[in-house]
Amino acid sequence: MSAPRVLVVPGGVPCRGVVRTPGEKSISHRAVLLGALADGTSIVHGLSDGADVGASLAAVEAMGAGVDRPGDGTVVLHGGRGRLHPADGPLDCGNSGTSMRLLAGLVAGFGWETELVGDESLSGRPMDRVAEPLGLMGATVHGRGERCLPPLHVRGGALHGIDWTSRVASAQVKSAILLAGLSASGTTVVREAVTTRTHTEEMLAEAGADITVEPWGEGRIVSVRASSLQPVERTVPGDPSASAFFVVAGCVVPGSAVDVEGVYSGPARLGYVPVLQRMGADVTLVPGQPGTATIRATASPMRATEVRASEIPSLDEIPVLAVAAAVAQGTTVFSDVGELRVKEVDRLAAVADMVAAFGAFATIEGDTLAITGVGGPLRGGRFDSQGDHRMAMAAAVAGLAAGPGERSLVTGFGAVETSYRGFADDLRRLTGVDSPRPLLVAIDGPAGAGKSTVSTAVAERLGIDRLDTGAMYRAVAALALERGVRPDDAAAVAALAAGSVIEVGERVAIDGMDVTAVIRSPEVGQAVSVVAANPEVRHHLVRRQQAWAAAHGGGVVEGRDIGSVVFPQAQVKVYLTASPEERARRRNDEAPGGVARRDRIDSTRDASPLREAEDAHRLDTTGRTVQDVVEEVLSWL
Ligand code: DC
Repeated sequence: MSAPRVLVVPGGVPCRGVVRTPGEKSISHRAVLLGALADGTSIVHGLSDGADVGASLAAVEAMGAGVDRPGDGTVVLHGGRGRLHPADGPLDCGNSGTSMRLLAGLVAGFGWETELVGDESLSGRPMDRVAEPLGLMGATVHGRGERCLPPLHVRGGALHGIDWTSRVASAQVKSAILLAGLSASGTTVVREAVTTRTHTEEMLAEAGADITVEPWGEGRIVSVRASSLQPVERTVPGDPSASAFFVVAGCVVPGSAVDVEGVYSGPARLGYVPVLQRMGADVTLVPGQPGTATIRATASPMRATEVRASEIPSLDEIPVLAVAAAVAQGTTVFSDVGELRVKEVDRLAAVADMVAAFGAFATIEGDTLAITGVGGPLRGGRFDSQGDHRMAMAAAVAGLAAGPGERSLVTGFGAVETSYRGFADDLRRLTGVDSPRPLLVAIDGPAGAGKSTVSTAVAERLGIDRLDTGAMYRAVAALALERGVRPDDAAAVAALAAGSVIEVGERVAIDGMDVTAVIRSPEVGQAVSVVAANPEVRHHLVRRQQAWAAAHGGGVVEGRDIGSVVFPQAQVKVYLTASPEERARRRNDEAPGGVARRDRIDSTRDASPLREAEDAHRLDTTGRTVQDVVEEVLSWL
């Protein structure tokens, strides 16, 4: 299942129940890397399912670690230094700086060369901060330019310990050095003036590494000596940043009561909770397993507050706190949040835009963001994530915080896959029947009405995929003709439909046979009406169409019974028509009178006859431009 590409959010639907967020990201990355190094089988429950941790997992798998997924979100790693070998190609870290920096430290301990690559954004991030200490330990690390930008080439082996004082407060740099230190002679020491996230040293100690930690002013000194690691079974606590979305939803949507269970409650990671409490929210922390808590949120009226950046060190929760501010009475001021400009997108501007889209008011002055709330439910809005996962999730919460009867649209919602693939599923569970759903646009109408052209253009504008279901029926007809099966031999054609693999995209194939051109031939045009009138064929294809939408996170789907039978829940249903003359002109694949003949068969058959869905918007495309028609369809969103 994929995350919805465009999420349609009903306003005022309360969130009720218990939810667990995906595994905390920093711990998840480390669980994967230590599992690859540990001799034997490590078991990780609740690993983050986001793309970033996925990159770390794929990297260790490429180097020979075994990775099993027995289900239930559990990942089993078969590791050991002896198992690991050079990967066949570069290790792709995607968008994940953590993967790249930690992997650089890990591979530095091996006597071969590794190339680490990343996406465009990661390729612009400096790696000199890890290249320098790893170089001093005896590895050769090259990147592009002075700042050592990716791709990064690391040749390791024969390392020796160093005594390193961190210049930037960075848990990633500390971790890279400690991982390399596991294979270095002597002692490797990292001194940090300010303590950064401590997962690496804690998890190394748990795995039996020879590691010590001493206080050093406000920071710490971590020393590690060459060690082999023991496998560990662990449950990764829930991600605190992800918890904020449900907690804020619980606070601001009237009638809500949410428990977010098993959230990592380490130092400075739940700073958003006291902020909400100052706003009058009914939020409490109930301690759970060591290092975790359940966060309990119940809706209550909210008022403005002042938020300092130091309360939310990563600033990750600012987008969703902005939603709380938009609902609150008064003006909430977020100071020193200029860093938001250099996140995945310019989040400072994005937050201001989002707040405005949902009817509240935001200003930015220097590094200060001020949000004047509406003191109650928001207005339904339309917002594009620009590919930023946190903006997508915050906007979904804003949509829920709109008044009952309002409807909001979050485009670019697929971005949530970066950190929280199942976010929409969890939200749907908490909100019940009338809940956020992927956008489905159903486009129907007779041959030559403009379905393909319009649905392609609408899909492109919305950034979602398009499925031409007529091409599926045509592919089955083409296969029947190819195999010498008569189109009216219902049982034989149904067996073909049930047993074949149909691919519909830019090219159309059935059972591996490319039928892109042949399905538009007059022969197939003749045969398809009979094939499409076969109820068993329809049964098989309808199920596949529904599965397609689930796998693609919604989409624009065109075909006869789409709005009535396949996706009765489609939010927008369109019935396109055009004059018979215009339709015949557009359809030069048909014999004269062919369009009229097919209309007749399609509308008089017993199984799902061509009929306008009652709740469809009817649109006559005769003499209209594509752009004009697309604008009208989009206006119904
Ligand atoms: O849209 P089209 O002309 O490519 O459709 C080909 C045939 O399949 C046409 O006879 C209608 C039928 N069809 C159907 O019955 N149900 C669908 N969902 C799509 C097409």
